[in-house]
Amino acid sequence: MLFEKLIRPALYRLAGNDPETVHERTVRALSLLRAEPPLLRGIYAEDDPATVFGLSFPNRVGLAAGMDKDGRALHAWPALGFGFVEVGTVTRLAQPGNPKPRLFTLAGNDAVINRMGFNNSGADALAAKLAARGKPGVPLGISIGKSKVVPLGEAVEDYRYSLRALYPYADYFAVNVSSPNTPGLRELQDKAALAELLGELQRTSADLGTTPLLVKVAPDLTDSALAELLEVCDAHGVAGVIATNTTLSRNGLTGPEAAAGAEAGGLSGRPLAERAREVVKFVHTHSGLPIIGVGGVLCGPDARRMLDAGASLVQVYTGFALKGPGLIREINRTLAGWR
Ligand SMILES: Cc1cc2nc3c(=O)[nH]c(=O)nc-3n(C[C@H](O)[C@H](O)[C@H](O)COP(=O)(O)O)c2cc1C
Repeated sequence: MLFEKLIRPALYRLAGNDPETVHERTVRALSLLRAEPPLLRGIYAEDDPATVFGLSFPNRVGLAAGMDKDGRALHAWPALGFGFVEVGTVTRLAQPGNPKPRLFTLAGNDAVINRMGFNNSGADALAAKLAARGKPGVPLGISIGKSKVVPLGEAVEDYRYSLRALYPYADYFAVNVSSPNTPGLRELQDKAALAELLGELQRTSADLGTTPLLVKVAPDLTDSALAELLEVCDAHGVAGVIATNTTLSRNGLTGPEAAAGAEAGGLSGRPLAERAREVVKFVHTHSGLPIIGVGGVLCGPDARRMLDAGASLVQVYTGFALKGPGLIREINRTLAGWR
């Protein structure tokens, strides 16, 4: 409440109401933490360990990809109660992303629209940062995607480069084929393209070690496309599914902010919650794969509903941006002792 009523409005006012400036300043401030202060974690975390795809998590609430693309604030996230952190999406080549403005907060709908376009410093820069600063004290996922200038036909080599560069640091990899903001990327969810990509990445991974590969899916797939995708994941020994990325749908946006739905990009937050849960349920019913449920988790009961739908872990982006770290504490408390 304090965050929503006082802190967030103040941060927005100071940033001239520009959400990307708020984001940039927040991550910059959090990046000043170079070690995890145990006292803070004591406030925000309520640990309830879980083992999923062979990894031990202190609790089931993770930071979703996109919040800390370049891994700048790695030691802050565990201090704010997160049980795991997914950095990225990073690409082989550093890239600036789409022109600004590209991030829109729809606070009245508990939602965000973004078309960031994988702005990131590149896989080598992230590897160098992880080598210099060390990993966080909770499992680290690294999300990899395709560089914008690389044609789809050369995507496999582009992903493989990032996988190799970051292999020593990841506890799991998220293969992102579902961002709506890189032209053509979602075509990599199609059966043949995904089979080729996952086949090559699994071969490369097997040469390097045993780090689990997960696939992040879009909420906009039809049931039959999703079923096909799951077959390919099963056939290629994928360790889990992250469901879901942002949606191109604008269903559920209401009030004066609905006009902002005309902005291109992916919608996240409350309007995505029901569809994300549906996809989690579908994946759970049609495959035995462990699931990270993400999309519209804005309170403890939302997280609980994700687990009830079949997820083993949850991730949060929009809820954290709008409600602050108190949300992570609330989710942790709701989920403690869930199973
Ligand atoms: C500004 C912004 C940037 C994002 N960037 C990425 C990204 O780089 N890679 C990715 O896999 N997902 C990205 N996402 C999607 C989130 O990880 C998450 O899947 C989605 O927002 C749904 O969760 P939420 O409703 O809790 O936000 C981004 C989301 C937002 C709002």
